[in-house]
Amino acid sequence: MRILLGVTGCIAAYKSCEVLRELQRAGAEVQVVMTASAAEFVGPQTFAALTGQPVGTALFGDAVDPIPHIRLAESCDALLIAPCTANVLAKLACGIADDLLTSTALACTAPVVVAPAMNVHMYENAATQGNIAVLKRRGIHVLDPDSGYLACGDVGPGKLPAPHDIAAAVLAVLDGGARPLAGRKVVITSGPTVEPIDAVRFVSNHSSGKMGAALAAASLTAGAQVTVVSGPVSTAYPQEARVVVVGTAEEMLRAAVGEADDADAIICAAAVADYRPAEAREGKLKKGADDAALEAVRMVRNPDILRTLAEQRRRGQVIVGFAAETSDLADAAQRKLASKGADMIVANEVGGGRGFGADESRALIATSGGIEEMSLMPKAELAERIVDRICALLPETS
Ligand code: PMT
Repeated sequence: MRILLGVTGCIAAYKSCEVLRELQRAGAEVQVVMTASAAEFVGPQTFAALTGQPVGTALFGDAVDPIPHIRLAESCDALLIAPCTANVLAKLACGIADDLLTSTALACTAPVVVAPAMNVHMYENAATQGNIAVLKRRGIHVLDPDSGYLACGDVGPGKLPAPHDIAAAVLAVLDGGARPLAGRKVVITSGPTVEPIDAVRFVSNHSSGKMGAALAAASLTAGAQVTVVSGPVSTAYPQEARVVVVGTAEEMLRAAVGEADDADAIICAAAVADYRPAEAREGKLKKGADDAALEAVRMVRNPDILRTLAEQRRRGQVIVGFAAETSDLADAAQRKLASKGADMIVANEVGGGRGFGADESRALIATSGGIEEMSLMPKAELAERIVDRICALLPETS
């Protein structure tokens, strides 16, 4: 799969390096073409080092290839322009070809995906919106920008979407058949559960949803349709995942069971509260007057979501659980593999800054085939390894 990445002159140009990496992780060979303005933000040498290929910057002066835009246009399976400025969007809409990137785009017959990024007022301007409409009518895939705090200080739509969302969109546009989870559904539980004591107090934990988000991104990249059943978190899940937000363990159980029926794989990465207050009081318990009630909050066991899903599994479904441990990862993983009825347990280290809320994780993967130890690595990479192992366990589709 060969993807030509066009980079235009925008502060978000530095994020193109991460987009490039996501595409490479998905198995793509990537080559880069930059506009002169893009080179003001990131040097061509950076992309050359990341791709191991020369970076296209000019229409003229290529001693080897006198018509580089035609070769580039013909040699890619998809053209992605990320970030795409308002100026380049306008040129694409009008068919202007006054540099290497826009000439290549005009000559390109492969699918084109464009990820606009700009100031909110530039994005909302009728001219830009008109250009986007023109491009969409022509079959160009224009992604919606994210909304938030922009480099200029304004707030609103205009942010470049997350790199994994952009990569997933490109891969979705390309033939999905080649991807290992194409046509499969993955359900992921993620984040904490929140168990109310009264109207203002609750029992919960520090799960941020980062591991669940990484698993969602890796599953999407592998071609799956993804549903995340998540407790409340501030981590953003990939745009292409369906997200069902729940509060308590009982709500998470209902939502997960509802999603499980047609799932091919279920990954339980949520940190589910094992116990909840027996009774959630309606109003706010008062200090002093309600001391006795507060001091005697009785806890009862929550349902075990992973075990329930494993008991109800349909034929061929792969069920993955996690084990959050401070020591003896291998023992805990093997115990939970048997007691939870899972096909795979990912035991990860927690405590001392590890696990909850961290961007990296040290884990091992236990299956009936044995234990595979991993070094400390980004959660994104661990998620890819877990998804690889799931692909190996899934039965062939007929
Ligand atoms: O969200 P992050 O900040 O990125 O942190 C990620 C994580 C550390 C929360 C994640 O990697 C992780 O380890 N999740 C499982 C945490 C946990 O609850 O572990 P456990 O050993 O208590 O539970 C074992 C397994 O049973 C887990 O798959 C859990 O989802 C599941 N479980 C537990 C209790 C319960 N009542 N129902 C369950 O389904």
